[in-house]
Amino acid sequence: IVPEKEVQQLQQCLPKANFIGSKIWKYQGYWYHDNHLQNVLEFQRHFQARDTDLIIGSLPKTGTTWLKSLLFAVVNRVSYSANHHQNPLLQNHPHELVYSLETDVYNKAFVYPRPHHLNELSSPRLLSTHLPYVSLPESIQTSGCRILYITRNPLDTLVSLYYFSIKVMKNYFSTDILKMILGMFYPTPTMQDFFEAFCEDRIPFGPFFDHAVGYWKASLEHSDKVLFLKYEELKDDPTVQLKRLAEFVGMPFTSQEESDGVIQKIIEMCSIKSMKELEVNKSGVINKLFDKDSYFRKGEVGDWTHHFTPPMVERMKKLMDEKLEGTGLSY
Ligand code: A3P
Repeated sequence: IVPEKEVQQLQQCLPKANFIGSKIWKYQGYWYHDNHLQNVLEFQRHFQARDTDLIIGSLPKTGTTWLKSLLFAVVNRVSYSANHHQNPLLQNHPHELVYSLETDVYNKAFVYPRPHHLNELSSPRLLSTHLPYVSLPESIQTSGCRILYITRNPLDTLVSLYYFSIKVMKNYFSTDILKMILGMFYPTPTMQDFFEAFCEDRIPFGPFFDHAVGYWKASLEHSDKVLFLKYEELKDDPTVQLKRLAEFVGMPFTSQEESDGVIQKIIEMCSIKSMKELEVNKSGVINKLFDKDSYFRKGEVGDWTHHFTPPMVERMKKLMDEKLEGTGLSY
């Protein structure tokens, strides 16, 4: 275990900023919450990838949960058909089937899952991370494991992050009296606060564009190692994207499966509408703090149009042009 003292010493040398009332630290060019830094170090030092591992990479709120469910459904489709009541996706939240490495497995606040439980998972192990490509543990970069990255329009990501964070804060200040007292010191953040943090490149696991560009470049250089997916493309043509995904993980759909409607069944089972209706996704918490249902909100493209003023949109467009120039990546 990385000693807390070491983390504290490291923190003294790292740039520090505020993100909506909490401290974040810049480590290897990216921002992390106080309590995440130790997990990140543990993950970097101790994780041993297997050649067969399939690892989802993403920034929070870009479609991680959806991709977890799709990946699980594709990989396990022979064992469990989409409408079979024993399909684990009908009885577990997607985050309980695909563990996040730094926030679940290497989080010492949890009893389960712990690093040794990784050995108990059968291959291919399905895992996820919010770490940027440059900070991935060496064995992920050098082994034959594959990475599936998902990104999303930054304004829609921001809207999603805003609603998710507000809900977490409300839960955190659990009693009315706490809410009243703490509310005086920490007024509820506004969308403008989130927007400013984003534009100033201080959001957890960000900067957003650097994160996406890192994986984008890796996917161009090593197309067999990194698959780059966009939330909007998944929404627009899930069949095409699911076929890409299945081919990438070495389990392409057979023509028999296609004619049997297997792809459509998976899309339907993993749709936000179906996921929201499942009892298992309606109540309870993930990581002691996050309501399971808060991972399924609207699931739409373009919700941002209701939340930002024209100058804000213009500012984001400029930022995007500047950060993505010459990369070939667009939103
Ligand atoms: P919104 O808040 O815009 O609705 P993450 O999983 O990375 O935390 O991202 C959460 C976002 O993905 C939320 O976006 C959520 O509603 C959306 N989402 C979750 N499951 C989805 C699904 N099955 N289909 C489409 N979007 C989904």
